[in-house]
Amino acid sequence: RTVYINGEFFPASDARISVFDRGFLFGDSIYEVTAVIDGKMIDNDLHLGRLERSVDQLDIPMPLSRGKIISVQLELITRNKIVEGLVYLQVTRGTEDRSFDYSSALKPNLVAFTQDKPIKGTNAHRAGVKVAIVEDARWARRDIKTTMLLAQVQAKRHAKAVGCDEAWMVQDGFVTEGASSSAFILTRRNYLVTRPNSAAILPGCTRQAVIEVARQLDFDIEERLFTTEEACAAKEAFLTSATSLVTPVIEIAGHSIGAGQPGPVTRRIQDVYFDIAR
Ligand code: PDD
Repeated sequence: RTVYINGEFFPASDARISVFDRGFLFGDSIYEVTAVIDGKMIDNDLHLGRLERSVDQLDIPMPLSRGKIISVQLELITRNKIVEGLVYLQVTRGTEDRSFDYSSALKPNLVAFTQDKPIKGTNAHRAGVKVAIVEDARWARRDIKTTMLLAQVQAKRHAKAVGCDEAWMVQDGFVTEGASSSAFILTRRNYLVTRPNSAAILPGCTRQAVIEVARQLDFDIEERLFTTEEACAAKEAFLTSATSLVTPVIEIAGHSIGAGQPGPVTRRIQDVYFDIAR
């Protein structure tokens, strides 16, 4: 497997980053994940737009132009023969002796690799997934896609321990989002509800693409807060992310959603988004 670091391609076993990298020491670093289906990147413009916004919010200089980053992504897809999988990008503030404050002139590190894995037509897509509920233990700027992912690591671990596939995180009784996905529910009155973008959640790229699909299909969309109780009582539910696309949710905190099977609205949105995403 070939890995990219700061302008060079390495075999994975030779790809190295310093122990003084600030991403490693402080989580001072941001990332993006783009899905690859049939060798093509999905919603990559949205992901690169968000990457640019993340570095901008943290005052990390952009290491490469958007065009050059795309060339790196394409080169990795070709070299690693990725038909289905993902491209991962990470920008860290850079490497220097450990100190909370950083030098203004610090040069960022850009790392990129691919993963070869099924994205489309997985069992989760067909059968749906179960979701656990956990407190949202993250910091206050969740709109920045940082690599400070300990709260999500623990949330996922808890989900797995209770026989679930994903955790929906909750703040003040309201669902924020999944540990690595955006959360949608369909209410009894057939409104598709998802939390509005703010500092409380990551502005999901798939979320945005799916809202556009749902609008085109004439579904009523409400971007508003919803409680755990409302989620547990929903007619249908699904989650979205680059790596799970649109995945039906069939159980939340032990409550069956719909008939405990993927619902028709979820299926419709899933199908239309799949068609666009191929
Ligand atoms: N995670 N919310 C959180 C907290 C996420 O980590 C992600 C994505 C999403 C969905 O965003 P998008 O549709 O742009 O992928 C929402 C990626 C896949 C990851 O960490 O691997």
